[in-house]
Amino acid sequence: MVNNLLEGKKGIIFGALDGKSIAWKTAEKVYEQGGRFVLTNAPVALRMGKIQELAEKCEAEVIGADATSVEDIENLYTKSKEILGGNFDFILHSIGMSPNVRKGRDYGDLNYDWFLKTLDISALSFHKVMQVAEKMDIMNEWGSILALSYIAAQRTFPDYSDMAQAKALLESIGRSYGYRMAVNKKVRVNTISQSPTVTTAGSGVTGFDVFFDYADKMSPLGNASAEDCANYIVAMFSDFTRMVTMQNLMHDGGFSSSGITNELIEKLK
Ligand SMILES: NC(=O)c1ccc[n+]([C@@H]2O[C@H](COP(=O)([O-])OP(=O)(O)OC[C@H]3O[C@@H](n4cnc5c(N)ncnc54)[C@H](O)[C@@H]3O)[C@@H](O)[C@H]2O)c1
Repeated sequence: MVNNLLEGKKGIIFGALDGKSIAWKTAEKVYEQGGRFVLTNAPVALRMGKIQELAEKCEAEVIGADATSVEDIENLYTKSKEILGGNFDFILHSIGMSPNVRKGRDYGDLNYDWFLKTLDISALSFHKVMQVAEKMDIMNEWGSILALSYIAAQRTFPDYSDMAQAKALLESIGRSYGYRMAVNKKVRVNTISQSPTVTTAGSGVTGFDVFFDYADKMSPLGNASAEDCANYIVAMFSDFTRMVTMQNLMHDGGFSSSGITNELIEKLK
């Protein structure tokens, strides 16, 4: 195992809710590899109190920010720059929420105010995170910005509902802003398309257990865990991946390239 891959690097981690969160596992791995960061989440999530445990473990400060609010993001960056003593080398956007999914609305009976909320929280916030970063000139050259996506952006998974549109938009924003960030600042922007993972956001989707099991059997390597994802994020924040940008990176144990697997054939026989 290589050590101190992220020594001297500083950044922001959005979206650690509890020990199962992809952002939580990422914070632990980034810290282990020498990276330092500010943790942030929506004020309502902070009130659950768990993030403080993580903050203590990682010697990190916590600043509340609703990722749909430009003002909150500006405040977050200003304070984080002071705390970290300089500009950022990495940002992780690990945010997703659909009121329609959460409240069990059928795809043929969506509430459109909620649909807009889904898009704002789960996709436009990624644009806001980068637009504020660009306007404040807060990224160091050769920095790395990541968001988390899901293959429902390309293929239909009925119960994923309006989150599928949010992920398609998220990936598109990654490409468009990736261009600007590369040209203006040599910063790379990518999305990671992760296997189904047992987390609060993940298990909110109806039939998640079946879904999880199916993906596991359809992936030659099995589903990638939150910890595997955290390791991949560390690699993407490190200097070993400086020329990777504007990509949607499949982190799914081979799911996206498989037509069928013997394991699944055995199950369906
Ligand atoms: N779990 C899966 O199966 C899976 C698969 C692929 C991609 N992803 C994506 O990974 C990311 C992280 O999700 P997770 O699975 O770790 O679940 P999680 O529930 O632990 O994380 C989602 C986070 O989004 C935060 N959030 C919601 N609204 C917010 C707002 N307005 N401002 C700031 N933060 C807000 C929540 O507080 C929470 O911390 C999401 O983008 C999710 O769609 C998850």
